Amino acid sequence: MRILFVCLGNICRSPTAEVVFRAVAARESPDMALEIDSAGTAGYHEGEAPDRRTRQAASRRGYDLSALRARVVEARDFEYFDLILAMDRENLRTLERRAPQGTRERLRLFLEFAPEAGVSEVPDPYYGGPNGFEDVLDLIEAASRGLIEHLRRRSQAT
Ligand code: 4NP
Repeated sequence: MRILFVCLGNICRSPTAEVVFRAVAARESPDMALEIDSAGTAGYHEGEAPDRRTRQAASRRGYDLSALRARVVEARDFEYFDLILAMDRENLRTLERRAPQGTRERLRLFLEFAPEAGVSEVPDPYYGGPNGFEDVLDLIEAASRGLIEHLRRRSQAT
């Protein structure tokens, strides 16, 4: 199972999702074979490490984002990844426009896996205050638990 998390810049939300989901999967379902990656729909920060505020907020919860580097979604990602999870509707729409025929059903909103959160999008924290980074972590931790539960149920059903 290959999972790609997607936001705009790949320096705040999707790298957080990549690392948080990897940690949740390792803890909850260590035997599940997963490949996890993240990318952005825009290339403004290509090659850069995650945003310093994102790294610091993540680090306070025990997640290390320092090794990641931003990259842009490529055509081959749509074929390679089984599940492509957008952080918000705008990025989902961008992905839908770029997705080759037959790959659109791989695209979803990540927060579909956290129905109890009461929101469907992870808000862009880039131009906001420090609370935005904590909100991003809360939402991503909730959706990561929901996603691993979904994958476990699915693997038991087959
Ligand atoms: P991300 O946040 O999409 O969660 O990585 C952003 C990063 C950079 C910009 C916007 C959002 N930007 O406009 O440069």
